[in-house]
This record gives sequence, structure tokens and C-alpha cells, in this order.
Amino acid sequence: MARVAIVTGGTRGIGEAISVALKSQGFTVVANYAGNAEKAKAFSDVTGIPTYRWDVGDHQACLDGCAQVASEVGPIDVVINNAGVTRDGVLHKMTFEDWNEVMRINLGGCFNMAKATFPGMRERGWGRIVNIGSINGQAGQYGQVNYAAAKSGIHGFTKALAQEGAKFGVTVNAIAPGYIDTDMVAAVPAPVLEKIVAKIPVGRLGHAEEIARGVVFLCSEQAGFVTGSTMSINGGQHMY
Ligand code: CAA
Repeated sequence: MARVAIVTGGTRGIGEAISVALKSQGFTVVANYAGNAEKAKAFSDVTGIPTYRWDVGDHQACLDGCAQVASEVGPIDVVINNAGVTRDGVLHKMTFEDWNEVMRINLGGCFNMAKATFPGMRERGWGRIVNIGSINGQAGQYGQVNYAAAKSGIHGFTKALAQEGAKFGVTVNAIAPGYIDTDMVAAVPAPVLEKIVAKIPVGRLGHAEEIARGVVFLCSEQAGFVTGSTMSINGGQHMY
């Protein structure tokens, strides 16, 4: 039977590309989303991938949502923790809410989804968790103490959980995307973005499909010896 994969934030941007790529590899994919119901419906209409709405920053909602997916679709074998938000601003202007919201969703979401699915993977002796980190969690970024801290936290979370999953056939890896041509990056003020792109050796923004290719590899049967790693896909912007 096909393995069941869930992609958080899986109806837009990088998550959408990951959902589509995993489906093309034979996974039974479900996509979680939090807010944009119209986009989620359009995504589902085009791809045939069912969508489930909940906030990954809400612990109980993750437990309930994953239980619902398991009963309606099947036990979850693969989790892609992709959902994330930005609340950029320099520290002296950043509010406590801006800090908390990014930590709650971006980092808390990984914990919540793992709590809901890792025990089952462990019991069944097979699993794949891929956490979407960021170049900005590796290198830092002006105006992103919240986002950089959360993404850096994701990289630590990945290495710790990888150690717990290894003897149960559960691999846990991260991908650290650079600047990808998504709505999130389009929201960066144009003059700021121009300066960032000028520092990317490959000379362009990345494409969501280029991140999805990495996810497909990490979720494959053949990647069983790859765990606790961070795959940087950033056009050479930061070599870590
Ligand atoms: N390094 C040093 N100084 C910088 C700087 C940098 N990288 N960026 C801006 N500054 C300076 C500016 O030159 C300016 O200095 P002066 O006042 O002396 O002229 C000062 O900081 C204020 O800059 P802004 O006018 O931009 O300040 P602002 O308060 O209007 O905006 C900001 C600040 C919101 C952080 C804005 O600069 C911004 O949006 N930056 C982009 C942040 C970014 O890269 N976000 C990534 C989003 S995409 C993502 O996160 C996905 C992923 O994983 C890669």
C-alpha cells in the first residue's frame, strides 16, 4: 500500500510543490493548510490531493487533525513540516506577539506534528520527517530575530529527534532553502530583495520544485542512511 504523507502548509508555495512531487512518486498525499480556503480548494481541484485545515501552532489541533487523517486516509508515514510565517522587523520595533507567533507556528508546529505522528512511525518501524528550515536559520538575517531563531531551532530539533528515531527506521532531516520565488519572498521590499539576489552566486531566486526534489530524495526508501542532516538548497548563497 502507498505510504501516507502529510505536508503542512501544503497548498501554497514550497509546500504545494512538495505535495505534488510526493504524489508523483506514488505517496498518498494530504495537504494541511491554516487560512486560505479558496487557494486550498483550487489546489485540491487541480491536484486531487485532499486538504485538511488546522493551525499547526495549536497542539491539540495537530493531535486531532492527524488522528482524523489516520482514520480517513491511513497511518501517517511521512511528515513534511513546511508551514511557516514571517513577521519581519528590526528587534527594536518587533513586538512580543511578532516573536511569539513565529516561534509558535514555525518551531512549535514541528513539535506538535511530531508528537502526533512520531510514536506511530516508531511503533511501525518506518518513518520520514523532513523539516523545512532556512538559510536564515543558518546565517541569520537582518530584521528576522524571530524567524532566524525559530528556523535555527528547527535545525537543532531535527538533529535531536534524528537520534531518537534512528533505531526505529525513522529518519529526520532538514532542508534549508535559500530565497525561493514564493509569495513569502515576494513580500520582501523590492530594493532589499534586489540586494539579496545580487549575493546569490547562481544569480537568481530558487524555484519551489527545486526544494521539492530534495524532499523526494529524503523521503525515498533509498535514503534510509541519511538522518540528522541538513540539505542546503540556496544557489550557493551560504555554504554551510
Ligand atoms: N544589513 C545591514 N543593514 C541593513 C540591512 C542589512 N541586511 N537591511 C537594512 N539595513 C539598514 C538599512 O540600510 C537602513 O539603514 P539606514 O536607516 O541607515 O538607511 C536601516 O537598516 C533600516 O532599513 P529599512 O528601511 O529596510 O527598515 P524597515 O524598518 O523599514 O524594515 C525590515 C526593516 C522589515 C527588516 C526590512 O529591511 C526587510 O523586510 N528586510 C528583509 C528581511 C528578509 O530578508 N526577510 C526574508 C523573508 S523570506 C524568508 O524568510 C524565507 C526564507 O526562509 C529565506
